[in-house]
Amino acid sequence: MLAIIGGSGLTQLANLDVTRRELVRTPYGEPSGPLTFGRLGGIELVFIARHGYGHTIPPHRVNYRANVSALASAGTRQIVSVASVGGIRADLGPGTLVVPDQIIDYTWGRASTFFDGHDGQVRHVDFTEPYDRELRSRLLAAAAAAGEVVVDGAVYAATQGPRLETAAEIDRMERDGADVVGMTGMPEAVLAREAGLAYAALNVVVNHAAGRGDSAHGIEMSAIEAMLQTAMRRVRHLLERLCDERGCP
Ligand code: HPA
Repeated sequence: MLAIIGGSGLTQLANLDVTRRELVRTPYGEPSGPLTFGRLGGIELVFIARHGYGHTIPPHRVNYRANVSALASAGTRQIVSVASVGGIRADLGPGTLVVPDQIIDYTWGRASTFFDGHDGQVRHVDFTEPYDRELRSRLLAAAAAAGEVVVDGAVYAATQGPRLETAAEIDRMERDGADVVGMTGMPEAVLAREAGLAYAALNVVVNHAAGRGDSAHGIEMSAIEAMLQTAMRRVRHLLERLCDERGCP
């Protein structure tokens, strides 16, 4: 079964035909909220709001381990993450949809692994390609079916938040090779890998990153909010065209 983790602006999937909700306890504590099971465009899926259904949990306080663990125990095999980002690359302006293919992790102090040695074992995962190829292709196919233009491939910079970046930090991230910046991509992606789940992300650019474009002298939160509302409507339609392993809607 496919899971969708919804980010800011996507605390609910209005077009999800809900069958049940389930509160799942995990060895890592409470997930961000109950899992919502239902049908979207003909496929069965489970949805969770990363920041809680009332959008109350900031990025650095999300219990990423509990969320991924809850989805795994519910029988999920794939996770599609939806998250808003700032655009660093000049051509990635507000309203652009991006399916990233790489990550640079600038977060710190987050519980970022299931493999912390409590079972007496030292384990490592390969993370050369942090996103699942096949699930990325499915996202790109859904976008094409929905008539949405999506940028295929970008380097996602994961920052600690909740503050936005300084212009110099964005300059440094660009020198590092980052194209978009967000606060929630890690450790979510690596936890999915450790749990053996396929993971891919759909990023929605909601602002130029700090110091870029119309964010040259600051970022307007009200502009981000407005962009989130319109972009997430497009995202919901795109997600309706997702196929699962049994087929397409
Ligand atoms: N920086 C970090 N995270 C974000 C941004 C940003 O500019 N926009 C949306 N999420």
